[in-house]
Amino acid sequence: MKIAIIGYGGMGSFHADQLAAYAAANPAYPLETAGVYDTDPARGAAARAKGLRVYASPEEIWADKSVGAVLIATPNDAHAPYVQAAAAAGKHIVCEKPIALSEAQAEEMYACAERAGVLFEVHQNRRWDDDFLTVKKIAGSGAIGSVYKYESRVVGANGIPGGWRKKIAHGGGMMLDWGVHLIDQMLCIVPGAIESLACSYSYIYGEEVEDGCDLLVRFENGVQYRIVVLTDCFRPLPRWMVYGLDGTATVEGWDLSGGMTRCVEREDKNLVGVRAGNGFTRTMAQRSNSSVEELPLPVVHAEPYAFYKNFAAAAAGAEAPVVRKEEVLRVFRVMEAAARSAAENAVVKVRI
Ligand SMILES: NC(=O)c1ccc[n+]([C@@H]2O[C@H](COP(=O)([O-])OP(=O)(O)OC[C@H]3O[C@@H](n4cnc5c(N)ncnc54)[C@H](O)[C@@H]3O)[C@@H](O)[C@H]2O)c1
Repeated sequence: MKIAIIGYGGMGSFHADQLAAYAAANPAYPLETAGVYDTDPARGAAARAKGLRVYASPEEIWADKSVGAVLIATPNDAHAPYVQAAAAAGKHIVCEKPIALSEAQAEEMYACAERAGVLFEVHQNRRWDDDFLTVKKIAGSGAIGSVYKYESRVVGANGIPGGWRKKIAHGGGMMLDWGVHLIDQMLCIVPGAIESLACSYSYIYGEEVEDGCDLLVRFENGVQYRIVVLTDCFRPLPRWMVYGLDGTATVEGWDLSGGMTRCVEREDKNLVGVRAGNGFTRTMAQRSNSSVEELPLPVVHAEPYAFYKNFAAAAAGAEAPVVRKEEVLRVFRVMEAAARSAAENAVVKVRI
């Protein structure tokens, strides 16, 4: 199947490179880039320089019978009109996250694709991040006992990048940019419903959209999950902290460094108190070596090109799409409740 890319910026060009590598891997369900369309002529020139066909207009893509699918990688506010037009033209659709600016708009987009009978899948690629899959393995395997708390962070010190990400009208802000990924991951790890959440947004750089967020979620099963997005932090923080009844795991970053400390003796018989600032503590002293064991992370590597493979197989009717409508809409419900909490500076009771 041939797929045309709409929006050849950072992510559109990444997709073109990835799709070339996917095609070279000789997959059972091939996907090949048909060409690109971008409103910026300079991006068209960049695509041409890479040997890609450049479409003069979206209409040229809709009319191209050899194109079976489109991949939309424009700023967020342009996703909906392209999804509607592509569905009307009978093209299957991959849309970058966040597909929409609200749950209501996302629902309309799914309805549109359903009416047209085309496949519509969101590129929630971080479901295939090795760090996330490793945390999922830790939680599912009981390696540190039953997990009662997660901290999931992404941290930069470069402010909000680019132009459109700073504008409400374009669907800017770090919740729609990164929050959407981290919430999607959370809903893939923790079973059951969310009962409450509290969120604060930061505006350190004085932009009209939030440059970071701190979201604390409580599930009905008692699990707590904290999501932190920062664009103003000049020191690295662990990508993940995972707290289990029998131990603690740290995944430092995307390089998968880190480890697990597991309790082998509930009460530490060799515990030694330590000087702590201007005082002394046993409570906050590290465990003695005899009461814990250090373990490597059970690193999981994702299947290469898993998203493209699934999309191509789903378009051929051979697999169900992995990223499902109900999951995508649920992420929007969490983001909208988080925005309410941030605006009201309040804990919000929900059932999501
Ligand atoms: N899944 C991921 O890991 C990931 C990572 C980065 C970005 N994204 C998503 O990809 C999308 C694009 O982000 P980006 O970082 O590539 O932005 P970008 O600014 O680098 O690229 C956007 C491109 O779209 C073009 N464009 C703007 N309006 C257009 C229109 N109406 N029609 C056609 N082209 C248009 C711009 O000229 C630009 O080349 C966003 O939805 C973003 O959230 C996803």
